[in-house]
Amino acid sequence: MTESSQTALGGNRIESGLDVHALRARFPILAKRIRDNSFVYVDNAATTQKPQSVIDVLNEYYTDQNANIHRGIHYLSEQATEAYEEARCRVARFINAPSERQVIFVRGTTEGINLVAQTFGRQRIRSGDEILISTLEHHSNIVPWQLVAEAQGAVIKVIPIDDRGVLDLEAYRALLNERTRIVALSHVSNAIGTVVPIVEMCREAHQKGIPVVVDGAQSAPHMKVDMQALDCDFFVFSGHKIFGPTGIGVLYGKDEWLRDMPPYEGGGGMIQSVTFEKTRFLEFPGRFEAGTPHIAGSIGLAAALDFVEEIGIDKIAAYEEEILHYATEQFSSIDGLRILGTAPQKAAVLSFVLDEAHPHDISTFLDQDGIAIRAGHHCAQPLMKRLGVSGTARASFSIYNTREEVDKVADSLRKIVRFFKR
Ligand code: ALA
Repeated sequence: MTESSQTALGGNRIESGLDVHALRARFPILAKRIRDNSFVYVDNAATTQKPQSVIDVLNEYYTDQNANIHRGIHYLSEQATEAYEEARCRVARFINAPSERQVIFVRGTTEGINLVAQTFGRQRIRSGDEILISTLEHHSNIVPWQLVAEAQGAVIKVIPIDDRGVLDLEAYRALLNERTRIVALSHVSNAIGTVVPIVEMCREAHQKGIPVVVDGAQSAPHMKVDMQALDCDFFVFSGHKIFGPTGIGVLYGKDEWLRDMPPYEGGGGMIQSVTFEKTRFLEFPGRFEAGTPHIAGSIGLAAALDFVEEIGIDKIAAYEEEILHYATEQFSSIDGLRILGTAPQKAAVLSFVLDEAHPHDISTFLDQDGIAIRAGHHCAQPLMKRLGVSGTARASFSIYNTREEVDKVADSLRKIVRFFKR
């Protein structure tokens, strides 16, 4: 540990000004004991834990407010409708969308990307066209595009990375051509943490008239995502990775695209009128929200965004950078441990392999000490192949992780190294 990291992260004194121990008290699950150990949760890229304020809002909704929305002409239905539409406005403010109408509630990032692929994608992509993605993508930003490409006779092109996990921007520029109809990019790699220069990449695609879809599942929880500054055409993220409930996510789209997109699913809640001969659809966002939506989820997500804004996204980003820096130092000092993903711009994700132990063994061993990480291919098999591994062990940090927890993980990893070297 360097002197500067000692002062930066010693006890509760954090340079970012975050009182982590006070903050931890707001997450009831963190007080849990696992196999007689204090619980160390460093699997935050998979899902974050929930603060009491989010849990309370969900409880209150089902205890006191539950009704279906946009349908009932009764008190509770009106209240629930208002809460759902307020949640939409809350999200719009959080991502600085020009209008709340551009916020569509979906189940999560995966559904958001599939929605864009199956509506906008099918509308736009023809035989011989190209869809440009990157080596860093999660399967949820690969497979939906493959489905469209197959249906339309299009081709998937892939932006390469270097050995650190940085996108090759020269190659990107060369791949953008008159056949490219859509660019779809992860903002932050879930598997190795690379932060992608999305503003620059959107600008370059737009210079050639190509729209950009951004998978923000791993960026929205960790950095400011401002739709007007990013100027992307679509942006998707999941509630559960930003302290909100599972089953709720957001698709943002530019007005000029949403206006002409056909529906994704048909059903109640998305129509103006139905006859057996012809159905007229609502304008967006309603057109894309068929059926009863996740009303409680949207309200829980709004509470999660309140929590994030109360702390401040810039403080969150600064703290996570400190923790990443400290964990990188600690893990690097472990014999036989190799970190995968060393981009200069990184989110608080540490992917690594050990000479002696398979990632699944690492996870199983850490679990014995009450430590939760993720191990495997992280739904990014093509990226793993590029890195020359079948999988990694991945510790991903959030605002409630402490320096002491990083030390615990590092100590457990040293134990594993000793065990396998015997
Ligand atoms: N996409 C999530 C992860 O990276 C599940 O773990």
